[in-house]
Amino acid sequence: MMSNAQAHSVCSNKNYWVLGASSGIGLQLATDLARLENHVIVSGRNATALEHLKKQYPNHVTVLVFDLQSEDDFLIVKKTLPELIDSLDGVIYCAGICEYVDDLHNNRALYRRVFAVNFFAAVDILELSIPLLKKSDTRGCFMGIGSLAAQAPFTRAQAYGASKAAFEYFMACQRIDLEPIGIDVCTVLPGFVKTPLTDKNDFKMPFLMSVDEASQIIIDGLAKRKKRIIFPKKLYWLLQIYRWWPQLWFGSVAKKMRRENDV
Ligand SMILES: NC(=O)c1ccc[n+]([C@@H]2O[C@H](COP(=O)([O-])OP(=O)(O)OC[C@H]3O[C@@H](n4cnc5c(N)ncnc54)[C@H](OP(=O)(O)O)[C@@H]3O)[C@@H](O)[C@H]2O)c1
Repeated sequence: MMSNAQAHSVCSNKNYWVLGASSGIGLQLATDLARLENHVIVSGRNATALEHLKKQYPNHVTVLVFDLQSEDDFLIVKKTLPELIDSLDGVIYCAGICEYVDDLHNNRALYRRVFAVNFFAAVDILELSIPLLKKSDTRGCFMGIGSLAAQAPFTRAQAYGASKAAFEYFMACQRIDLEPIGIDVCTVLPGFVKTPLTDKNDFKMPFLMSVDEASQIIIDGLAKRKKRIIFPKKLYWLLQIYRWWPQLWFGSVAKKMRRENDV
């Protein structure tokens, strides 16, 4: 991994837009990027959390509060963003929600909520960011957080996992198509990171990491212009083994995770 000084030289004095910056991984990334003397536009719905970050780094943080599920907010942001900044070197899409399917009913509203934030809003944000990323002095980078959850089917995760699988595929295609216009696309695939999102989980999370560790790995990958940032590697390789050995996954591991009273 790069030293702080190396990351400082590569990832500093740039313009970033971090979405989902009010909490968890996005908050830590926005904080670390502001500490590295970048200008960071921070977005989310929680204005108090975003203003708190601005108070800590008044010269490096600009707050842009909006709801990714609101068409009206999106139209306002489309107009105001180019007034806030001339160009963007990086956009980091960390916004996301996780809702488990707790009964056997595939609730339309639940799927739509999860896909709205984890997938469709990301499509809109990329579209809106392209003109500003193209103006970067270096190459612009669109980074988004997928999940290792999409590497294997987990009980109750059909909505969340499907949204992350769709997102990963979308990002991989964008990587091919945006390369010629000078924009890099990077997908981050984390395992379990301790955040308000995972604090709601009532099961044991293997290889749970801190947001601080996660942010260091992501910034290191950003500085090295990695196309995929995957952590922790142990969990990734374990899931790859199960991918190649589905009988073991479906026949034993996945069943053990299932709650008895779910069926
Ligand atoms: N934590 C993990 O173990 C883990 C593992 C794999 C992938 N991920 C992914 O990493 C990303 C960040 O997760 P996290 O763990 O840091 O979760 P988190 O602490 O719950 O943060 C989620 C962020 O998304 C924002 N957000 C949610 N709905 C929004 C909406 N409608 N409009 C605007 N912003 C919205 C939230 O901001 P407001 O509430 O202020 O709107 C918040 O800043 C997510 O995509 C998650 O799926 C997390």
